[in-house]
Amino acid sequence: MRDCKCGEVTSEQLDRNIMLCGWVHRRRDHGGVIFLDLRDSAGLVQIVCDPDTEEAFAIADSCRNEYVVRVSGRVRRRPEGTVNLDLTTGEIEVLVREIEILNRAETPAIALDEYMDSGEEVRLRHRFLDLRRPQMQHNLRFRAKLLSRIRAFWDARDFLEVETPMLTRATPEGARDYLIPSRVHPGRFFALPQSPQLFKQTLMAAGADRYYQIARCFRDEDLRADRQPEFTQLDVECSFVDAEAVIALNEQLIRTLFAELLDVDLGEFPRLSWDEAMQRYGSDAPDLRNPLELVDIVSCVRGSGFKVFAEPATSETGRVAVLRVPGGAAMPRSSIDRYTEFVGTYGAKGLAYIKVTSRAQGLEGLQSPIIKFLGEGPTLQILDACGAQDGDLLFFGAGEAATVSASLGALRDRLGADLDLLEDGFRPCWVLDFPMFEADPAQAGRLAAVHHPFTAPDCDMQTLRDQPLRARSRAYDIVLNGSEIGGGSIRIHDADLQVEVLRLLGMDEDSIQTQFGFLLKALRSGCPPHGGIAYGIDRLAMLMLGVPSIREVIAFPKTQQAVCPMTEAPGGASEPQLSSLGIRLLSEDRGD
Ligand code: AMO
Ligand code: AMP
Repeated sequence: MRDCKCGEVTSEQLDRNIMLCGWVHRRRDHGGVIFLDLRDSAGLVQIVCDPDTEEAFAIADSCRNEYVVRVSGRVRRRPEGTVNLDLTTGEIEVLVREIEILNRAETPAIALDEYMDSGEEVRLRHRFLDLRRPQMQHNLRFRAKLLSRIRAFWDARDFLEVETPMLTRATPEGARDYLIPSRVHPGRFFALPQSPQLFKQTLMAAGADRYYQIARCFRDEDLRADRQPEFTQLDVECSFVDAEAVIALNEQLIRTLFAELLDVDLGEFPRLSWDEAMQRYGSDAPDLRNPLELVDIVSCVRGSGFKVFAEPATSETGRVAVLRVPGGAAMPRSSIDRYTEFVGTYGAKGLAYIKVTSRAQGLEGLQSPIIKFLGEGPTLQILDACGAQDGDLLFFGAGEAATVSASLGALRDRLGADLDLLEDGFRPCWVLDFPMFEADPAQAGRLAAVHHPFTAPDCDMQTLRDQPLRARSRAYDIVLNGSEIGGGSIRIHDADLQVEVLRLLGMDEDSIQTQFGFLLKALRSGCPPHGGIAYGIDRLAMLMLGVPSIREVIAFPKTQQAVCPMTEAPGGASEPQLSSLGIRLLSEDRGD
């Protein structure tokens, strides 16, 4: 139907007659001459209709935005002064001989020419229009290229691509499952996989040796800008490897992708232990573009008279830390109050501060509500510990270590954004030596896995049993600009150790057998030592493209409310459908 794409017409085609198809992006009537900007997936080209070609002129006149047309005409150079260097086709135009309307369009629900911000709900409801926008076309193409380079990387290294089931059993990754009722077995349910974790480990037992998959995963969890209920992982697993081998190979992958797709050299990735990440950044996914760092001041305040600091400073589980904000002394009280409220949402009981106006003047050169309680000695020690300079603002967190890290870590991110402190570019890092377990936030006295329960500990079984909260794991996360893009670990390949870890997580023998019996059998069948990683492809694409949400890189995403406005999924089910599944709804829960 066409000779080339609209955005691909070049001056090499000058004076040739060509056939193009596309959408009418914009129609301009310049008193006697009609200009159509014709658009397709490759870009725009200017079409000129003059009244001499009467029939074509009349059709052009009747065209409206988003009509689909086929045009034949002659390529010519644009007149002097009308060249548009913003367009790849900006030096030429096509003088029309014939136009055929292939399809009409209703007035578009969202503006495609000067896209400003139609609300996201409207964009998603009319995704077929929204995806026509050049930015979205670019994002889709970038994502496709990313996937293709990823495949090329693993294929070249002899990794086997294997598809694992979507209808399966729950795989614990810390979220709720999406359940699918079984018609054949009323009262029983499949779960959509939260990840292919158990299958890829089974594949290692099966001798696959090196596996990868671009896998769809499903997690029913609270949604945010970087989370979707349905998302795509790059999932990788290898046999006979240690953590170092997995890390080296994967660093090479990410560096290759950035070099090939963005022409960016990421260099060698710094490595941080989990302890160091929490200590310096208050987060296990630190944004290294942000120059602010936390400094521990327990030794400065342990003996001070200020109980708010002295108590956590002497507690085993306490932490007292300072976040120094260069130039922050000019911050008005109202902003400090806002930040105090902000850290409150992370459980902080307050946000003590010191403004450093002049260090040369000792205590006289400081402004703060807490110095009178702290006393001169501890105050001066704090200033030394964090290298305070004139004009700085010091923010303090004191309390349980987890709360202090979470609140000051979040404050660090917020200040980085508010004060525009972030460096440009990409700052990846590895975070290593995670704890095996943490106290389960949902159930007091219980342990929860920091990664997942299949992660190998970095200690023997006895230490694991005696001091589970002190045990470290052989897990690693890859973090980019403050976002966890991937995570993995060396796995447990010894069935007895696996059972022990599941027990420590509070599972009884019955549930261990029901849920993980097949995994244990696979481990007992002669399973090699193995380890791997999985990446959030949507997150990676989002960061590489510098867009604010993963919904910009997913063709048909769900909203924050986990619905699809275009298809209106999830929908209701008819009575016969439900009864064939053996399901009866409570009346107030009817879908439609
Ligand atoms: P994890 O749960 O860390 O590990 O997931 C791996 C990566 O997937 C991405 N991710 C998400 N992306 C979008 N929306 C979500 N709801 C979402 N949840 C996770 C993140 C994350 O780093 N089986 C293990 C991996 C392994 O051990 O090999 C796993 O799934 O970028
Ligand atoms: P208070 O003694 O409660 O009046 O607090 C004195 C100052 O310490 C105020 O500026 C509070 O915001 C701050 N503050 C109180 N509790 C904490 C805490 N846990 N961490 C940091 N600052 C705190």
